[in-house]
Amino acid sequence: MKLRNSLYTIFLLTVFALPGIAREAVLKDVFKKHFYVGTALNDQICEGKNPAAAAIATRQFNAVTPENELKWERVHPEMGKFDFRASDRFVDFAKKNNMLIIGHVLLWHRQTPDWVFEDSPGKLTDRETLLKRLHEHIFTVAGHYKGRIHGWDVVNEAVNDDGSMRQSKWFKIIGDDYIEKAFQWAHEAAPDAELYYNDYNMWKPGKRRTVAKMVRRLQEKGIRIDGIGMQGHWSWNYLSNEELDASIEDYSALGVQVDITELDIAVLPRKWNLTDMDISASVEINEVDKELDPYTEGFPVEMQQKLAERYAGLFRVFVKHRDKIGRVTFWGVYDGMSWLNGWPIRGRTSYPLIFDRNYHAKPAFDAIVATARSRN
Ligand code: GLA
Repeated sequence: MKLRNSLYTIFLLTVFALPGIAREAVLKDVFKKHFYVGTALNDQICEGKNPAAAAIATRQFNAVTPENELKWERVHPEMGKFDFRASDRFVDFAKKNNMLIIGHVLLWHRQTPDWVFEDSPGKLTDRETLLKRLHEHIFTVAGHYKGRIHGWDVVNEAVNDDGSMRQSKWFKIIGDDYIEKAFQWAHEAAPDAELYYNDYNMWKPGKRRTVAKMVRRLQEKGIRIDGIGMQGHWSWNYLSNEELDASIEDYSALGVQVDITELDIAVLPRKWNLTDMDISASVEINEVDKELDPYTEGFPVEMQQKLAERYAGLFRVFVKHRDKIGRVTFWGVYDGMSWLNGWPIRGRTSYPLIFDRNYHAKPAFDAIVATARSRN
């Protein structure tokens, strides 16, 4: 009996000590009639090593994307060697919690090992070999999760901001039909899965034109594409609400669903062009001015407020377009796990999400909840 009582006390303490559990509104319910509200998960969360983050994820969100666990380098690190341990943990976690599962990503130019593109170190392979490798990868990975993953980011970041094609090894070795091959094979490997094209700066006019052309070409050829993922790596004023509004209209006019993927708001100062997302290496903090890391002691109240207003503005646009948007996914559960602590400068303290380092909901959370009823 004593043991039972103390177990009960521990249970109560855990529930109430895990912040953000009992008190707030629940995003997935608040936006239920509008769109799915998603988050990115890492392996620590799915493995049970971060119960506070797991508790927020399962309570607040009804869609999940793996931050890294389905990228080529993780799941297919060596030729002929697939490793589904971490991605299976992710899928099991999501299934257990009834979440919509998004696979990210089948083809990208980053986080893909060099061997994929080479015959021997430094010597690029040919079109036929690379197509064969891509085919094997897509059939094995999408096939492994056939019937379990709801939708796949098939191709990530294939287009430059000006609308030209990214000169990735995929493009250089195969030519631009690599995109249609990837979509076609993803559909063959997982016929029930939705298929998406995902990219950043999707509002830029050049990119918008090229992506629209790509979607139309796939449609004309009868190749399945269900949606456009607009990565939401934005900041204070970078991507205006008007540009967001117009881009959603444009993409939706193609007859595909629009998803906001990878949402976070960068709040730290940058030295370089804010829109330059393709800096592959981060720099060390000690190489840069401390002014670039101003909030190591905490995020000031007025900045919290500013972030809340920024998020509210974006969500008002999402709610306005709720008939076109399938899902809004944050790129992480809480500030402590955000990639923006390490990019584009390593070792900073950033505050881009709606739950803080102590797993508390921020003012931005309440501001977002309040937009659910807006009708603009
Ligand atoms: C891109 C990718 C994501 C992630 C982010 C940064 O947007 O699509 O998988 O790597 O960069 O973390």
